[in-house]
Amino acid sequence: MRQVPTEPGLLLTFEGPEGAGKSTQISLLADVLRQRGRTVLTTREPGGTPLGEELRRLIKHFGGPDSVSDEAELLMFGASRAQLMSHVIQPHLDAGGVVLCDRFADSTTVYQGLARGLDAGFIERLHEFTLGHRWPDLTILLDVTVDTGFARVHSRQDDGPVDRIEAESRQFHEAVREGFLTLAKRHPERFFVTSGEGDPAAIHQTILEALDHALG
Ligand code: TMP
Repeated sequence: MRQVPTEPGLLLTFEGPEGAGKSTQISLLADVLRQRGRTVLTTREPGGTPLGEELRRLIKHFGGPDSVSDEAELLMFGASRAQLMSHVIQPHLDAGGVVLCDRFADSTTVYQGLARGLDAGFIERLHEFTLGHRWPDLTILLDVTVDTGFARVHSRQDDGPVDRIEAESRQFHEAVREGFLTLAKRHPERFFVTSGEGDPAAIHQTILEALDHALG
């Protein structure tokens, strides 16, 4: 992992397959960082702005599995990210704050690129367009098996019924899991990988230690 960020603020992103436990870990980490006196903003993708939340609803629940083309889906994620970056994340970072984001550009690389098979070069250019050079300082990948993820997704009701992407095949979700692990190996300077399967308090402790180590 990269030591001591050179950009203002701190951008920490959480990634993983469905049901990895990202939101629990984000809320635990936000509490600790606030106790340490940091100004913390938690947000999510897609979403995090009025436009982004509207796109989230469409992405997740517009029609059935074949109702949105892969290309249209990619651009909706891009639009949500562009809005979130310029209106929420970048201003907060510029003010020296910490941003904890539930999913980010890596989800597009994995879901739309590696799992759906869309053009990797185009996705890279889309990332340059929406992020400029501002990549996360640390990306925490919570790895869970597809079985664990499915069991968690099917037992929770907070975000409505199972959505268009959750309803994809087991093969798709296996590709997502493998895709994240591949991406983490490609960017060891930025990724911290840990299992999302154990006790949430123990996972939180592991993440906190990784963050403190990364910050020096
Ligand atoms: P979640 O944040 O509740 O997991 O829901 C977001 C869904 O959207 C999840 O299925 C992953 C998917 N997704 C992509 O396919 N590409 C992306 O770029 C992002 C941010 C999410």
